[in-house]
Amino acid sequence: MGLVMNVEALLTARLAAAFEAVAGRPVDPLVRASQHADFQSGVALGLAKELGRPPRDIAAEAMKKAGMAGVEVSGPGFLNITLDDEVIKGAPPEVPLTEHPERIVIDYSGPNVAKELHVGHLRSTIIGDALARLLEATGHDVVRVNHLGDWGTQFGMLIEYMAGNDHGQATIGDLTEFYRRARVRFDGDEDFRTRARLRVVALQSGDPTSRALWQRLVAQSEQSFVDSYARLGIGLAPGDFVGESFYQPMLAGVVDELTAKGLLVESEGALCAFPPGEIGRDGRPLPLIVRKSDGGFGYAATDLAALRFRVQELKASRLLYVVGTPQKQHFRMVFAVARAAGWLDGVEPEHIDFGSILGADGKMLKTRAGDTVKLGDLLDEAAAQATSPAIGVGAIKYADLAGDRRSDYLFDWDRMLAATGNTGPYLQYAVARIRSLIAKATTAPGPVKVTDPAERRLALTLLGFEPAVLAAAEGREPHRLAVYLHDLAVAFTTFYEKCPILKSEGDVRASRLTLAERTGQTLTLGLDLLGIPVPDVM
Ligand code: ARG
Repeated sequence: MGLVMNVEALLTARLAAAFEAVAGRPVDPLVRASQHADFQSGVALGLAKELGRPPRDIAAEAMKKAGMAGVEVSGPGFLNITLDDEVIKGAPPEVPLTEHPERIVIDYSGPNVAKELHVGHLRSTIIGDALARLLEATGHDVVRVNHLGDWGTQFGMLIEYMAGNDHGQATIGDLTEFYRRARVRFDGDEDFRTRARLRVVALQSGDPTSRALWQRLVAQSEQSFVDSYARLGIGLAPGDFVGESFYQPMLAGVVDELTAKGLLVESEGALCAFPPGEIGRDGRPLPLIVRKSDGGFGYAATDLAALRFRVQELKASRLLYVVGTPQKQHFRMVFAVARAAGWLDGVEPEHIDFGSILGADGKMLKTRAGDTVKLGDLLDEAAAQATSPAIGVGAIKYADLAGDRRSDYLFDWDRMLAATGNTGPYLQYAVARIRSLIAKATTAPGPVKVTDPAERRLALTLLGFEPAVLAAAEGREPHRLAVYLHDLAVAFTTFYEKCPILKSEGDVRASRLTLAERTGQTLTLGLDLLGIPVPDVM
């Protein structure tokens, strides 16, 4: 692990011990980067009431106990900490490693077969991919899983439509249109509906013709997902696709096990679990339906089987589900049942929820005609607006990752693509500018020497990379890294305006070149951890 973790960890450890000695209980000294010094701790102010002493007294006593040079008490009782110049020598950025490596299964993207990827799956895909990159790079053993919706009663309708019309590739080429037509037929033709229901039975009992049609449909969809992932730079390969159909052979066993453990109750012909504390709108206990009254299995049963498989067969010690907030209750109930069944001993499941993408009208993003936006169309539009695919994709991904994932965000091309402000293109431009600057410099970079406050601020900001990466990975909050990278680009911009590089000379020039180079490397590495490409020229 690199330097900055040592700096922050060291400061925190020293001050924690000092404040504990003063307060008589463990205290987090809340060491933060500061405008007034390199770091600051304001914890004495918070302790004043508890200890009945003026905060300046507490700070002064703690400072004495810490026995550190470069610490002074300021204002009402802040501890200002200034680092020795030696500490900010500008080492190359390194991704910090976790102290507790785990095997983590990340379930993300999860589009549905015979429907094109639409914007509803965009956030899961982008956030899940950023988390997979962050967790893998920090030393976890990550298993990516794309839980495709490739099973269920709707396939009866789709396959029957394929069979009856002998429609080949041409018709299912536009999957959305294909789905729509099948639906129209289903809604308007009673005979067709009956045949569609028989198809479900045929498919589920392994009828070769039905199965072949289903496979063709799934393969076609998978290809369209693969194309979209390639355009978006998403690290999901066909080997990571594990559709709902994969778990079908396990469902009867899941029901048997849950029944044997006394966790299922028959209710109106269905087998249900009733996790304690889950109450429906009608005020009655809410069921998680594990087997429907017609004997079929649904979404919940599949998720229970998938969870058990990931723990028992994939040996995961942590399960992440990157799925929108509307499925919060579903996952809470699935986790509760799995826990009661004893499948989660020593395993932590986490629902990584996120808000919606809103259109300019503040409602869910829709096309002008009121349809859900197709991802392919969105990417076409992005490339057209942005002049290059990398900038378009970077803009979309950054807009998605820059804010707290639980919040909704407004999809606004002008704001996302702006060359200044908290945007992907702003960060990409910063890297491009640094690269061209370094290409122009004919002299070599050299040791960092601080001659100006803007240099010091930039050098210190560079030290913040490692904690930002760890916070983003361990807190499942990619925006912690995005916010840091933006701060870094801003610190660089200030430095660049105040401190001429190519017009300076000797040691100063060499030091500034190093600072610029480190900034470029840090931004590139950080953006890569978020899955955001950095074009060479812009
Ligand atoms: N296919 C689902 C949907 O479109 C998302 C799947 C999420 N993952 C899961 N294990 N349930 O809503």
